[in-house]
Amino acid sequence: MKIKDQLNTSGPAGTARDHRVLELYEQVQEIEERLIPTGLHVFGRVSEEGAQADMLRMVASFERPEARARSLTDLLAENLCEASYETLLKAGREDESQLRERERVDEAARAAIELFIKAGTEAALLWLSTNARVNPDDARPIFALLENISEQLRSNDELNALARSLRGEYIEPGPGADIVQNPSILPTGRNTHAVNPYTVPSEIAFTRAHATVDNLLERHHREHGRFPNAMALVLWGLDNIKTQGEGVAQALWLLGVRPVRDAMNRATGVEVIPLDQLNRPRIDVVMTVSGIFRDLFGATMGLLDKAVRAVAYLDEPFEMNYVRRHVSEQCETDGCAPEEAAVRVFSNAPGNYGTNVNFMVMDSQWELDDTLGDLFVTRKCFAYGRDGAGRSYEGREARVAMDRALARVEAAYQNIDTFEIGITDVDHYFEYLGGVSKAVEKRANLRPAIYLSDALSRDKKIRSLAETVRLETRAKTLNPKWYEGMLKHGFRGVAEIESHVANTFGWSATTDAVDDWVYTEVARTFVLDEEMLERLRTLNPHSARSLVGRLLEAEGRGFWKAEAEAIEKLRQIFAGLEDQLEGLT
Ligand code: BEZ
Ligand code: MG
Repeated sequence: MKIKDQLNTSGPAGTARDHRVLELYEQVQEIEERLIPTGLHVFGRVSEEGAQADMLRMVASFERPEARARSLTDLLAENLCEASYETLLKAGREDESQLRERERVDEAARAAIELFIKAGTEAALLWLSTNARVNPDDARPIFALLENISEQLRSNDELNALARSLRGEYIEPGPGADIVQNPSILPTGRNTHAVNPYTVPSEIAFTRAHATVDNLLERHHREHGRFPNAMALVLWGLDNIKTQGEGVAQALWLLGVRPVRDAMNRATGVEVIPLDQLNRPRIDVVMTVSGIFRDLFGATMGLLDKAVRAVAYLDEPFEMNYVRRHVSEQCETDGCAPEEAAVRVFSNAPGNYGTNVNFMVMDSQWELDDTLGDLFVTRKCFAYGRDGAGRSYEGREARVAMDRALARVEAAYQNIDTFEIGITDVDHYFEYLGGVSKAVEKRANLRPAIYLSDALSRDKKIRSLAETVRLETRAKTLNPKWYEGMLKHGFRGVAEIESHVANTFGWSATTDAVDDWVYTEVARTFVLDEEMLERLRTLNPHSARSLVGRLLEAEGRGFWKAEAEAIEKLRQIFAGLEDQLEGLT
């Protein structure tokens, strides 16, 4: 029986218990619907048909103005429920009947896509018209797009393109993004191109960022009773290519400015949004941008620096302009010039990349709590922008300025723009967002709230880091659909599982946002289950040993309160793996 069918609908509506059950139901649904990779991409090979259904459904759930295609979920909501899908999404938690309607829409979308895969467009259109009153002419454009995508996924020219490029032949260019975001990335095997930095942020990115920032500030206000004084933002290059600058646009919204384009349509200036339109204070932002962002978006770094300075010198009350308040306070306490107190764009020294926090964590090379945050600042304390005389400084060391800016931060944030790579898939999320949070912890003497957005989700959802770790753990690491998909790849698959556990550990090291049950369940699923352990050690004993070693380290460093018995068992298994590997060498 589904959870929602067990709700007591006859009693007074909206009781606390029912509300909690609905909340839990939403979480279960969120895990179920989460799009996850169910295997690795093998270079040169087409993906399995089964893996395409979820992806096509996700593609179909977005409006595609460029293909003049309405989203399938919108069409279904309008015809089945006489409501917009947006309303159903928003009302879900509060209203059980809306939740049921939304589920009806989602199930119809699933059925139509499955039929499309099995029997083609006409069969899906007929089904939609008979069962959901959707006019075939309205739904035809989105299915034409899906047909195009399916067709392009049936062939793969990557190997051929690689060989041609090695021969020095011309490779056609193609945009970089994921399929859901931009289906025109297909076919793969092309020469991925970036975007013109002067187009960033695009109009669409700026509009989408508005909703995300509203949700972000609304959530912080709900949980803390006020807006954050300052936020630390992580900006990456590839993400801003894929989204045409959504992360950049979010920074501008937090400051309360909009981009202004010059006669050549280049975003080179900013216009201040008046406070009576903004309806909230301007939030101070400290931006740490990756080395890739710095290399690709020089003009954008200039725009961000300009935005901070435009806001810092406005004649507005301190309680409505946190940047101005902080600049003024710093000038007073440090005796520095306002232009120095308004430095907010930081990256690596020219020619340098990364924070190295990931390497230090992976190699277990830190002892003191402050080390990881200090390393982050050492690597990232190089300022980019223009001084009061308009001279640009490209990567000037500015450790004190960064220390001061981070000391006011109350929340850290990164925009997540893809379904393909999550916060435990790679070590870069914890090295950046975890690293900056750790740096704030010492300098501000508080643990910042940490948020991530789901910029691709229809409702621009904001999650805390702890929520995101739980979701990723349930949807991926502990999900048999995910790990069995990985194990099909043998040696590499075990390495992927181990890497998820190591990256989860990275979040413990930098933020302590990982619940004990995460490690307990990882140990139970992959190590204490004899059959699974046997599979792992046969396929890849090196990664199996690292995984067990990482669990022991998590316990040893106090990140995991484990049962003594489980630890004893893990120690024995670790010793056994060491013996096995010694025998191998
Ligand atoms: C970037 O696109 O900026 C980026 C990519 C991978 C790791 C870190 C940053
Ligand atoms: Mg803990």
